[in-house]
Amino acid sequence: MRTCYTGEVNAQHLGQTVTLYGWVHRRRDHGGVIFIDLRDRTGLAQIVADPESEDTFAVAERIRNEFCLRVTGVVRKRPEGTINPDLPSGEVEVLCQEIEILNPSLTPAFQLDDDNLSETTRLTHRVLDLRRPYMQHNLMMRHRVTRAVRNYLDDLGFIDVETPMLTKSTPEGARDYLVPSRVHAGQFFALPQSPQLFKQMLMVSGFDRYYQITKCFRDEDLRADRQPEFTQIDCEISFLNEDEIRAIFEEMIRVVFREAKDIELEDPFPTMSWAEAMRRFGSDRPDLRVALELTDVDDLMRDVQFKVFSGPANDAGSRVVAMRVPNGCALSRGEIDAYTKFVGVYGAKGLAYIRVNQADDIPGGLQSPIVKNIHEEALTQLIERTGAQDGDLIFFGADKTQIVNDAMGALRIKLGQSEFGRENGLFTEGWRPLWVVDFPMFEYDTEAKRYVAAHHPFTSPKEGHEAYLQNEPEKALARAYDMVINGWEVGGGSIRIHRADIQTQVFEALNIDAEQAQEKFGFLLDALQYGAPPHGGIAFGLDRLVALLANAASIRDVIAFPKTQRAQCLLTHAPAPVDTKQLQELHLRLRPVDKAPS
Ligand code: AMO
Ligand code: AMP
Repeated sequence: MRTCYTGEVNAQHLGQTVTLYGWVHRRRDHGGVIFIDLRDRTGLAQIVADPESEDTFAVAERIRNEFCLRVTGVVRKRPEGTINPDLPSGEVEVLCQEIEILNPSLTPAFQLDDDNLSETTRLTHRVLDLRRPYMQHNLMMRHRVTRAVRNYLDDLGFIDVETPMLTKSTPEGARDYLVPSRVHAGQFFALPQSPQLFKQMLMVSGFDRYYQITKCFRDEDLRADRQPEFTQIDCEISFLNEDEIRAIFEEMIRVVFREAKDIELEDPFPTMSWAEAMRRFGSDRPDLRVALELTDVDDLMRDVQFKVFSGPANDAGSRVVAMRVPNGCALSRGEIDAYTKFVGVYGAKGLAYIRVNQADDIPGGLQSPIVKNIHEEALTQLIERTGAQDGDLIFFGADKTQIVNDAMGALRIKLGQSEFGRENGLFTEGWRPLWVVDFPMFEYDTEAKRYVAAHHPFTSPKEGHEAYLQNEPEKALARAYDMVINGWEVGGGSIRIHRADIQTQVFEALNIDAEQAQEKFGFLLDALQYGAPPHGGIAFGLDRLVALLANAASIRDVIAFPKTQRAQCLLTHAPAPVDTKQLQELHLRLRPVDKAPS
């Protein structure tokens, strides 16, 4: 039997005989003595095989990286000068008396301690990649997070209820993953995008506090923080208002950060309206670690000669903003060109700027080709409003509101997190959570030419805003809230509609008529008619929370078996073709163009 994990062997075991199980991290032959770093999920222990015990030495000579071993030996102090202060077990070593090779290993495709592996290599050889201390640490962090969540919710009387994985495709939201039915020809299940409707129905059924840590499936364009299947900490609660619900879940996140990583988050989290977030940061998930802000200057630019500004300044759907960059005069032409290219990715047609050499000398102290086309009054007010000082630079965004928000919001982060930003105090390390509230109910989808739900169609309008639903839906605000930490949207939720008549009105605003509503959401509308309690909830992206805590750049690093950016599993090679017989049973036939190349 194992007496302890390899990473736990320490000076307390001096003189004792221990039995360890693990994998060979490294084997070093020091002319006569063989050293093995034995690794398990807790860390490394140094094993010494001495030629004096011939049998064990003979086994040690055959050992190679990643062999699985059982080792029994006596713990002794490492000789002076060989102590490794970086390892918990670094003061001691195990002089082995017995080594058993439980299983040899092929030579791995890569060195486990190589930090520059491509993601393709890592995902293809995920079993070995998961052996790496980085991934072991991340998955253990994930476990600590889910354990803290379960304990916290359990103490508050939440009960864990499972909801179906095979369910009905509903419109709205992302594209569904579909599962064809064998029993019902031509019919499909959909994998759930979230348990939203089921958790609402559980509230109607009287389970007033529900949670579930569950998989959700969305067939959408993937990014570093998006996976086609991801995990939500999904919660719902009856009879509380949004402030009460937010307080419960804000505390849950504080507990998670404390228990998983010993971090104290502020109490309470600040709250910001969606409108303010968009105005000041161009984003509904502002990273408050970055000390740069957007300043509206439409009113100053309406009558300037520079058409790039006056055009959008006079257009209701557009926006002109300035972003003051302290000490920005130090940015080189090359850097500014690179930022201009960067904002281009978000659709910006350019990136005008003014170098403020001397703020009290207008226009002489302002250096920029655009200055001559902007009158003095506008320049004076611009300097005053942005608070620009000598040596600062002002960037401008002028375009359709969404382009300006996307481009300047992204520039803000990029610049803040750059070396320049860090050197000039534009970025402060730490944890900056906040709630974003007062979202609009609807967003206009310019492609589909109709309103879509900003959160989801079951979100309640703010009190009094029902009146806007019919004729001015763009004015209606929602009782929705997002939790944002360091620029990541980690969770989102809302107070739900619990009255069938209001739900019908919201469907109408979304162009879902009564017949469609009945067909698609009849089960929910019915449930709402049997004394549905007022209720609301939230879902957190578990993968995102853990990625933040693990300081991982992508959520793929905190998921054991993730998909690539192209929604494939490189380990199992899913998705993959299936037999014709399987297709026949499912009443499916592939068109020739859809057939995978053989
Ligand atoms: P929402 O769609 O905002 O809300 O999702 C909740 C949280 O889940 C995470 N998330 C994702 N994580 C990884 N990959 C994805 N593709 C992905 N999509 C979302 C985010 C997000 O904040 N039913 C509602 C919640 C509610 O109203 O209670 C819902 O699903 O962190
Ligand atoms: P132009 O007159 O097109 O040469 O542009 C003059 C300056 O304005 C250049 O620095 C451009 O990068 C910048 N510019 C052009 N279009 C925009 C825009 N929509 N928003 C911000 N700056 C722009």
